[in-house]
Amino acid sequence: MSQENRTILVTSALPYANGPIHIGHLVEYIQTDIWVRFQKLRGHDCTYVCADDAHGTPIMLRAQQEGITPEALIARVADEHQADFAGFGVDFDNYHSTHSTENRSLAEHIYLTLRDDGHIARRTISQFFDPEKEMFLPDRFIKGTCPRCGADDQYGDNCEVCGATYDAGELKNPRSVVSGATPVRKDSEHYFFKLTDFEEMLRAYVRESTQPEVANKMDEWLSTGLHDWDISRDAPYFGFEIPDAPGKYFYVWLDAPIGYMASCRHYCDRTGRDFDAWWGKDSRAELYHFIGKDILRFHTLFWPAMLHGTGYRMPTAVFAHGFLTVDGQKMSKSRGTFIKASTWLEHLNPEYLRYYFAAKLGSGVDDIDLNLEDFVLRVNSDLVGKVVNIASRCAGFINKRFDGMLADSCSEPALYREFVAAGDDIATAYEQRAYGQAVRRIMALADRANQYIDTNKPWVLAKEAGREQDVQAVCSTGLNLFRVLLTYLQPILPAMAAEVEAFLNIPEMRWSNIESPLTGHRIDNFKPLMTRVEQEKIDAMLEDSKEHLEKSPATASSGALAADPIADTVAFEDFAKLDLRIARIARAEHVEGADKLLQLTLDLGGESRNVFAGIKSAYDPAALEGKLTVMVANLAPRKMRFGVSEGMVLAAGPGGNELFILHPDDGAQPGMRVK
Ligand code: 2FM
Ligand code: ZN
Repeated sequence: MSQENRTILVTSALPYANGPIHIGHLVEYIQTDIWVRFQKLRGHDCTYVCADDAHGTPIMLRAQQEGITPEALIARVADEHQADFAGFGVDFDNYHSTHSTENRSLAEHIYLTLRDDGHIARRTISQFFDPEKEMFLPDRFIKGTCPRCGADDQYGDNCEVCGATYDAGELKNPRSVVSGATPVRKDSEHYFFKLTDFEEMLRAYVRESTQPEVANKMDEWLSTGLHDWDISRDAPYFGFEIPDAPGKYFYVWLDAPIGYMASCRHYCDRTGRDFDAWWGKDSRAELYHFIGKDILRFHTLFWPAMLHGTGYRMPTAVFAHGFLTVDGQKMSKSRGTFIKASTWLEHLNPEYLRYYFAAKLGSGVDDIDLNLEDFVLRVNSDLVGKVVNIASRCAGFINKRFDGMLADSCSEPALYREFVAAGDDIATAYEQRAYGQAVRRIMALADRANQYIDTNKPWVLAKEAGREQDVQAVCSTGLNLFRVLLTYLQPILPAMAAEVEAFLNIPEMRWSNIESPLTGHRIDNFKPLMTRVEQEKIDAMLEDSKEHLEKSPATASSGALAADPIADTVAFEDFAKLDLRIARIARAEHVEGADKLLQLTLDLGGESRNVFAGIKSAYDPAALEGKLTVMVANLAPRKMRFGVSEGMVLAAGPGGNELFILHPDDGAQPGMRVK
């Protein structure tokens, strides 16, 4: 890639606005952020935009579940997402939402242009419909018995037990996950984007794709034949209504990628930059989408076709990455490895993760593994043991003995040149997203710098008479090598690099600034730049992740309401472990922000318990006070969004939200054991 100034627009996939950012998401945001920071460090005009993906059925249902409007939900989640990204140093130039005026107007424009050019077809199709909720059901909202292996409780599109994929119509005993009702078939007219109109164009486009895995996948789709794409959904739906079709909405995946443009439009309105310079047909800018390999089809078929059909430029390339595993397995809520960004930030330095992901990332679509043991070793040995060590071995001497002044000339010009020369390969690796390779090269240089210090032993020289200048020379060289290394690491460790800028008393790093070493320059006092990863912190983070995601209903990421896992039989010894007690409801109160819960203060005959119970829809809290009920007194305390629940009251209901508490007969007293 030539080194003249490039204009580059970069995006990461837009996260859905119904759940928290977790470390699986962060692979992509960190990967993209490193690439963008690298381009900026090289002096290119690189702009990074993103947005929340705010539409669709799961978001609509989650808002209903929480008893709030979708707008309130997406506003809250937008704040949470942006706090998480900022915490991890993911530095967007603009962060917007697909539920925005810019996106509505671009989506309408794109749709109307495609329609007027004959690329939209209308057809009536039959789909599953929830007769109670009066809504069409996406496959993920239907569950039933797998037609292949008979496993219960499987989704409408695939079986997690035997791996079969099927149509929801084949599922036995289907039921709506939303209401529990048996779905019925219902016809409705849908709008389709005629992808086949763009087949030839896509065949030519695929040849320009830079990632072999992406080109192979596109070839496969093109050879098996393209299909029209259903871009409409019926009300009720949270999204944009289709301009000429009342009651019909754009499918979330139609306006999601348009959200990239909308965020860019918003950025242009904010900064006065020229939208067409990025998106116009004759744009000379480069446009890259970083995505997960699971959403390639949307980005390599539908999206370029939509852009082309509307007269916009197409992406220069789509960069796909693999999934994250933790200790070799899928992230798991029960093992505590489904780690939210916010939980990580409570326990560990985010740059540990940025570094580890970088060390593992290549340019392809291979999955990457966060092996927690390796993580500790690697961060401690590379960052603390090698990189930071260089500065901490040299800075003290310069600060104390030379009043912070580096030597007037570089005593090891050849060594310094060697470090600068390595920059070409490192830059190539970054450019190709082969960050693992870049990290290996940088760490080899760090080893080299440490060897240089070991050989020259400033701590020995410092004790010898007349060697003052040598001490200054060795430590100045060490710090200059350190500066080169930190410049190379800046895209990965931006927070540490900023501290190093302050410590070395230098302006914002630039790749080109390392050409010459710092000489006759005063540095600031050295402060420890990074501490070692501690195993206890990891353990605490895993423990907290178990709590957050297993026990808090508000943090489950899927919009689907999970069914209760009830065993066919339970051994008597297991049942006998339950400590069921009569409790008196001393106080019952509403919980702010909760649509189902009441907060109960229960009297167990001398002992008081705080319990959250999902009985709000059946009771006025005041009417409950003084009543007796039955509770599970030895249920492990559960951390919920609103506080800790210390037990559970027994209740029964007909399905849906209504639950009625159980009352003991006359004669029962608070604290009595139920047998
Ligand atoms: O898969 C997802 O999480 C989507 N929200 C990604 C959308 S990317 C883009 F097309 F908007
Ligand atoms: Zn099955």
